Amino acid sequence: MRNLDLSGKVALVTGASRGIGREIARALSRQGAFVWANYSSSEQDAVILKEEIEKEGGKCEIIRFNVAKKDEVDEAISQITSSSDGPVNILINNAGITKDTLFMRMKEEAILDVLQVNLIGAMNCAQAALSPMIKARWGRIINISSVVASMGNAGQANYCASKAGIEGFTRALAREVAARGVTCNAIAPGFIDTDMTSKLSQKIRSSIISNIPMGRMGEAKEVASACVFLASNEASYITGHVLHINGGLLCN
Ligand code: NAI
Repeated sequence: MRNLDLSGKVALVTGASRGIGREIARALSRQGAFVWANYSSSEQDAVILKEEIEKEGGKCEIIRFNVAKKDEVDEAISQITSSSDGPVNILINNAGITKDTLFMRMKEEAILDVLQVNLIGAMNCAQAALSPMIKARWGRIINISSVVASMGNAGQANYCASKAGIEGFTRALAREVAARGVTCNAIAPGFIDTDMTSKLSQKIRSSIISNIPMGRMGEAKEVASACVFLASNEASYITGHVLHINGGLLCN
């Protein structure tokens, strides 16, 4: 048996076509989970991910939907529920966007879009996936937050609000479903090398790194391994928790 064995479990990872979501999908598959990899636009990247997982002996299907659109989420998750592999046991709410600018200049659209994808998107997916988890008396919901939910970050008022919201949502849902065998936790990564952070200028990158005790940005696989643990039976008594993965950036 694999350590942290997830065989027989069905996982859905949102925003899985690249970055942290991609590594989470691969890591869950390596532990034996059947992975549904969600993408919103880049079908080609999702197909490559599926091929990579299958090459390693795993099982993966790709599924397109926009987490921000409740009707698309409901339809996709009911398709998964009625598929032969069964409903979602492990939901990873990873899809996220940024629309950064100083708050004084931030347009209403940038506020609503970021909240709609990062916060409402996670709530849409959790609501659609929850009922079969409760029936099975086993489920895992893992929401990807960010260190900036705790620290704040100039230029990211919309993003920080969405991630702080996700942490509140995590705690409330954890309390609602704890007695039903379903855990709900969040992971708050610090600065991780992905397409999202590649937008930062060299100057900002250097200044961020100078504040990280480990002296480097994190790697997506370092977030993925924590996700595997929280998804496993080994984490059965952990719920309502926010796990920080940030190289010491936020030591409190
Ligand atoms: P990324 O930009 O590389 O990947 C985000 C993924 O979400 C993409 O595949 C994108 O297509 C997908 N996505 C965006 N909107 C979507 C929608 N409406 N429906 C479905 N999918 C959608 O970003 P990265 O860095 O991999 O981030 C993943 C998660 O980790 C996000 O929630 C992000 O906020 C969070 N995070 C990232 C950090 C970093 O330093 N990279 C730090 C802290 C948190």
